[in-house]
Amino acid sequence: MSRKNILYAQSGGVTPVINASAAAVIEAARARPDEVGRVLAGRNGILGVLQEELIDTAELSSQDLVAMTQTPGGVFGSCRYKLKGLEENRREYERLIEVFRAHDIDIFLYNGGNDSADTALKVSQMSREMGVAVQCIAVPKTIDNDLEGTDNSPGFGSVAKYVAVSTLEASLDVKSMASTSTKVFVLEVMGRHAGWIAAAAGLAQRQPSDPPHVILFPEVAFDEARFLAAVEQAVEQHGYCTVVVSEGLHTADGKLLSDSGSTDAFGHAQLGGVAPVIAGLVKDRLGYKNHWAVSDYLQRSARHIASQTDLDHARAVGKAAVELALDGHSGVLAGIQREADEPYRWTVRPVPLEQVANHEKKIPAEFLRADGYGITEACRTYLAPLIRGEAYPDYGADGLPGFLSREFATLARRLANFTA
Ligand code: F6P
Repeated sequence: MSRKNILYAQSGGVTPVINASAAAVIEAARARPDEVGRVLAGRNGILGVLQEELIDTAELSSQDLVAMTQTPGGVFGSCRYKLKGLEENRREYERLIEVFRAHDIDIFLYNGGNDSADTALKVSQMSREMGVAVQCIAVPKTIDNDLEGTDNSPGFGSVAKYVAVSTLEASLDVKSMASTSTKVFVLEVMGRHAGWIAAAAGLAQRQPSDPPHVILFPEVAFDEARFLAAVEQAVEQHGYCTVVVSEGLHTADGKLLSDSGSTDAFGHAQLGGVAPVIAGLVKDRLGYKNHWAVSDYLQRSARHIASQTDLDHARAVGKAAVELALDGHSGVLAGIQREADEPYRWTVRPVPLEQVANHEKKIPAEFLRADGYGITEACRTYLAPLIRGEAYPDYGADGLPGFLSREFATLARRLANFTA
């Protein structure tokens, strides 16, 4: 039986654990030496595939893979690049297939979110159309947790943990200072138009009087007067108020409170910067001294406080993607399926990409408290297992984590340069 070659690529926004999925792919392939030949990786995701910039992962030792598992960011590089529809840009798909052919690729593993599931689907359709038997499997990832077909998306659990812990810690600070200084702390979190990360801050609230006192979700239209009343009430009741705000917060007419004005290759508005807007309102209208913070890339790269559950998920989907491909699957996502909340049990199963591509999973109404400023018990039950356990990286004598940092050589090109 001839051995299959794998091409792996990372896509979109990276996560604290995406490299754990990559390492698991490589390890799973090495565990089946009779069935898998080479594992290549695209430099900067699909762009590296189009430009034939391919890395041979054979150069990674097993110690490198351990370090890689502990390293945030995307070690091979990622990209935001949307392949157009098959009719609009057939040339790009043909190029991908040419690169697959030139390097004898049998299996394409695409590690990304909903846009990437769409790309994986199109590539699998195209390869079928062109009579090339390339199996495409999507490996889930996105800190936004808005991916359909999977109970949760690897990367989310670690960001959720970072946000819940940071909310708890910063709230202790503001509580200490509130009698003579800061009364309100505003923390901005990512998540685009889904409030999963903001919801995770709610895990910090073990008692009704605990912070965060107000969570502003993108699923709940912003009402300035009602928000200011909630902040005032919290300060009167508890002496201080912690507000967590999602970058995707908007008013009833759909106007985002933060929008940098620029868009990415997928046409998504670049969000960020809502915290100072909210903090300004609190200062101007209520006169409360406040501090604000934008978690931004700190949350997306917070490998130092990664969730063990999340790391387990990230590794499992990487391993399962290889196994699904070797079992003959194609056009599927390696999705996490929850079997029980408590104790938490889950498996990984194949989900057709048609059910995943281009959908956006928002927070369901039953997860939002009646006033829209907090989470329900049902939401807590869903979120709680995802932040459990601490997967610390190894620290060196210099007090810093021993992250993998290296430049990868790319293989000699076999094709002419590509221009779209
Ligand atoms: O999709 C993940 C995400 O982190 C979003 O939460 C955020 O809005 C976006 O990526 C930021 O993307 P970029 O790093 O390309 O600006």
